[in-house]
Amino acid sequence: MKVLFFTGTGNSRYVAEKIAEAGKCELIDLRPQIKKNIQEPVKDEEVVFVTPTYAWKIPKAVEEWIELADLSEVKKAWFVMTCGDSIGNACQYNRELSVKKGMEYMGTAPIIMPENYIAMFNTPSKAESKRIITKSRPAIERTCECVKKGEKFPPVRVTVGQYLLTRVVNPAFGKFFIKGYAFSVGDECNSCGKCAELCVMNNILMQDGRPEWGEGCIHCMACISYCPKAAIQYGTATETRERYTFEGLEYRK
Ligand SMILES: Cc1cc2nc3c(=O)[nH]c(=O)nc-3n(C[C@H](O)[C@H](O)[C@H](O)COP(=O)(O)O)c2cc1C
Repeated sequence: MKVLFFTGTGNSRYVAEKIAEAGKCELIDLRPQIKKNIQEPVKDEEVVFVTPTYAWKIPKAVEEWIELADLSEVKKAWFVMTCGDSIGNACQYNRELSVKKGMEYMGTAPIIMPENYIAMFNTPSKAESKRIITKSRPAIERTCECVKKGEKFPPVRVTVGQYLLTRVVNPAFGKFFIKGYAFSVGDECNSCGKCAELCVMNNILMQDGRPEWGEGCIHCMACISYCPKAAIQYGTATETRERYTFEGLEYRK
């Protein structure tokens, strides 16, 4: 079995590590592959995809990676989605994607983790974030157990509202909510280039030592959240918002 993960701010890596640890299996970070636009074939019969939730679905960049990758040896696929609140009707799309790739769909497990979407919302305090993660531990353990035993995840109940969020809002998300031009950098920027290095979409170019954002952003929040100087803003709302990263919590794993 292999655990393949994507993360913007560390939550999904934490959950992926737990699953890989429990199943004593290999952990693969999809970000370097997505950044280089390569899809290494997966030579295994069982795969667990661990991702954040972006607008009630898996991130588009991961969906595209799965679509292009050679997964012909994979027989069973589990999906684990970290989220701040709800994964909407992501299950249906994960099932369809699995069918398209010839993999048996083993279900989707939502895991509530701290909200990281600083461009849109306030993020929880460190103490609150730690409480949220501790509260999710039983769900993470149940998820690990299911995968270890080769069992399907229990079905996720979807309300009409959640169905519509995935169906209607998700397709509009990239177009109406993600604005490359809304990113800016302040005088605190020390030109370290970490933002450009972290950008999985290669959407940040360093020009005369200052980052500039293109229009290929997926809003993973890595640049703004990991900036060592907190010099990056998205519009003006982020000026007063606490940056969130899993690592910043120093959570005892
Ligand atoms: C662009 C974006 C969209 C998001 N959409 C949702 C969502 O639809 N539902 C939800 O519950 N959380 C949503 N979130 C919150 C994240 O899914 C959640 O905080 C996740 O654990 C972050 O994982 P990561 O640290 O691995 O990147 C969103 C976050 C971002 C950055």
